[in-house]
Amino acid sequence: MVTGVLYGVGLGPGAPDLITLRAARLIEGAAVVAYPTLAGAASFARAIAADLIAPDAREIVMDVPMSVERAPAQAAYDAGAVQIAAALDAGQDVVCLCEGDPFFYGSFMYLFARLSGRYRVEIVPGVTSITACAARAGRPLVARNERLTVLPGPLPEEELRARIDGAESVVIMKVGRHLTKIRTVIADLGLTDMAVYVERATLPDEVVLPLADAPAAAPYFSMILLTKGADPWL
Ligand SMILES: C[S@@+](CC[C@H](N)C(=O)[O-])C[C@H]1O[C@@H](n2cnc3c(N)ncnc32)[C@H](O)[C@@H]1O
Repeated sequence: MVTGVLYGVGLGPGAPDLITLRAARLIEGAAVVAYPTLAGAASFARAIAADLIAPDAREIVMDVPMSVERAPAQAAYDAGAVQIAAALDAGQDVVCLCEGDPFFYGSFMYLFARLSGRYRVEIVPGVTSITACAARAGRPLVARNERLTVLPGPLPEEELRARIDGAESVVIMKVGRHLTKIRTVIADLGLTDMAVYVERATLPDEVVLPLADAPAAAPYFSMILLTKGADPWL
């Protein structure tokens, strides 16, 4: 029996028409789709692809608990990998839905680590949240030999401060409950006027604001773009 192929399919940042044609074709033709949900909430990835999923497709849902410890999340991916492996062993292809790009801070990497040694795995790249946020904010990210620094918001305050201070163009991801800390660091460095806040880019309830005007609380799907220099694009 020939085993199936596991596809890690990038869906882009949220707007369904930012799904690539290749990803759309794979999702439409899939008999088995897999995706994570966070702590029992509705899956963002599934919502992006909803119109493309066949009504009779089997759905493998990996419910990933929200916890600081890694073991409960690892157990959810272990269980998901077992179900996906069973479908692949039965000769079925499995399309795993991934918000943004699968290999850019994507949870698909946990399945890739578990299954790529045993099965054929193909990755379909997607529009990342970084390029989507830059586009929606009207902010070019880097030009010529400039360096782009990508920082996760959960980093400790002192590390954020040092890395932002030494950087040129900066993107801060996973803002969520770390907004106050990040704001303080950026204000301490005198960079607030150069920072833009973007929430749920490309979705109908998208928010794009100067960081100074950002709301007090940020959702998980938010980002801060910071470009130093008065007119860095010339
Ligand atoms: C686990 S990472 C996933 C990144 C994704 N794989 C990608 O390629 O962009 C989640 C973070 O991506 C960012 N993000 C994803 N989608 C976003 C959106 N539509 N608007 C703003 N930020 C987004 C947020 O910073 C969020 O905390």
